[in-house]
Amino acid sequence: YQQRVAGLVARHTRDVADFPTPGVVFKDITPLFANAEAFGSVLDLLAERHEGGVDVVAGVEARGFVIGAPLAQRMGVGFVPIRKKGKLPGEVVAQSYDLEYGSATIEMHTDAVKPGARMLVIDDVLATGGTAVASCELVEKVGGSVVGFDVLVELAFLDGRARLERWPVHTGLVVG
Ligand code: PRP
Repeated sequence: YQQRVAGLVARHTRDVADFPTPGVVFKDITPLFANAEAFGSVLDLLAERHEGGVDVVAGVEARGFVIGAPLAQRMGVGFVPIRKKGKLPGEVVAQSYDLEYGSATIEMHTDAVKPGARMLVIDDVLATGGTAVASCELVEKVGGSVVGFDVLVELAFLDGRARLERWPVHTGLVVG
């Protein structure tokens, strides 16, 4: 599974030097989204992997929406967004986490899931792991149970995985 996802992601990802800041090589996965066949294959592999084990897919803003929503449809389950602070209209639960400079907060609707719902959390990239940990903690705060955290790309040199030992993590392309 991982090799097939990794191959598809590798073939449809481009490296952009010095973005968003000098010295950083950005993994741009928009070419994957633009290729219906390749993106469809990735979604099929993700759906197959979690077949029958997921009640709700949660996507992390912003690229986690692009992957999570069509995946949820393929799996025949609902999709809920994990959004940056101040974007959701209803009552929310919040989780803050540290960034290199400062902090960030993400939110989910309090009533987003039924108690005990089996939740698959989806994002595009695992970097330092801060967003991933906060997302999984947030899902638990609203009463869900994290059955997996899946990303397409893992930047292994940042060792985000070490912070995620409480949850099953699946990655596609591992870089570094
Ligand atoms: C990126 C990426 C992940 C997060 C990973 O999102 O999509 O959500 O960073 O980084 P971490 O592992 O160090 O927390 P970004 O904050 O750029 O938001 P965006 O998708 O809305 O552009």
